[in-house]
Amino acid sequence: MLALADRFGRVATDLRVSVTDRCNLRCTYCMPAEGLAWLPSPSLLSDDEIVRLVTIGVRDLGITSVRFTGGEPLIRPGLLGIVAAVRAFSADVELSITTNGLGLARLAVPLADAGLNRVNVSLDTIRPETYVDLTRRDRLHDVIEGLEAASAAGLGPVKVNAVLMRGVNDDQAPELLAWALERGYELRFIEHMPLDAQHGWDRSTMVTAAQIRESLSSRFSLTPADVLRDGAPAELFDVDGGPGRVGVIASVTQPFCSDCDRVRLTADGQLRDCLFATEESDLRTALRRGDTDAELAQRWVDGVAGKRRAHGIDRDDFVQPDRPMSAIGG
Ligand code: GTP
Ligand code: 5AD
Ligand code: SF4
Repeated sequence: MLALADRFGRVATDLRVSVTDRCNLRCTYCMPAEGLAWLPSPSLLSDDEIVRLVTIGVRDLGITSVRFTGGEPLIRPGLLGIVAAVRAFSADVELSITTNGLGLARLAVPLADAGLNRVNVSLDTIRPETYVDLTRRDRLHDVIEGLEAASAAGLGPVKVNAVLMRGVNDDQAPELLAWALERGYELRFIEHMPLDAQHGWDRSTMVTAAQIRESLSSRFSLTPADVLRDGAPAELFDVDGGPGRVGVIASVTQPFCSDCDRVRLTADGQLRDCLFATEESDLRTALRRGDTDAELAQRWVDGVAGKRRAHGIDRDDFVQPDRPMSAIGG
């Protein structure tokens, strides 16, 4: 078996597949109200093409977990079939999804039946008015129903991802945590990253991990959890002595690039070795011109080999990638 190794000794085993760049929300920290110029349909990988590439990753390249992301992955019509086909190929690979939760109430059981293991749901507030301010849509109720359905369908441990924006929801961290703990969801706060389509990210207004912990400390006592982090984005804390936990994903102020085990495939078939990569490897063209599985696997290996040491947000020469978060996947 080949390995997706880079010059710094990191080996990618976690594949994130963006199945669409479209979304049914318009989170202000992600994209403008009018949406974006979506990828043209002919450039999108078909369901079969996605399954073929994922299969090569699992069979030939040491991929052990696959996360489907978007945009919003639940709006891809063929998603259930993709999950089922990957599961039919491998009983062992861990399959998960990162979703905004819209439609999850309907899809949780079918996804579990198709072989999905877990879901992470994005939810930044439990106040209806703040939800509308942040997402520009009045759908909080759907997300809450989706979370309940995911738990009931056994798609757990269910995790909730939250981004705090100054002056919008940064005073709501403790209430969101209390709400998540009551329901048994593992909440993680994510530092806002320079991946927004509007290029409006600003370090001086970003809510930092330290500020998030301080805000939570007004109501909870946090102690570092005794768990092996193993390249995971979230640093975990026991809340009030446990067993409840909270995570903080400090991508900007405490980067975790040195342990990164992730590689990404965009909806138009481009391989990215980092969220912040400024170059991609074109698997779609190779696939459509008839490359063999072995040739595609080698192209994939070559695409990861040159991965940079770190994202370099702190460097003067940092360049935000052309693709926004919604077209890369979380
Ligand atoms: P699990 O803990 O296994 O559920 O996975 P996860 O934490 O990787 O899940 P998820 O996809 O929900 O990721 C959470 C968030 O972490 C993403 O939305 C990103 O904001 C951030 N993240 C994930 N991978 C990376 C990465 O490679 N680099 C950076 N900077 N952030 C990442
Ligand atoms: N910085 C950090 N997190 C972001 N997300 C979307 N855009 C950004 C950004 N610029 C989050 C979403 C979701 C996950 C996929 O990434 O809220 O939880
Ligand atoms: Fe959609 Fe996620 Fe972007 Fe919100 S953050 S607009 S849910 S892709």
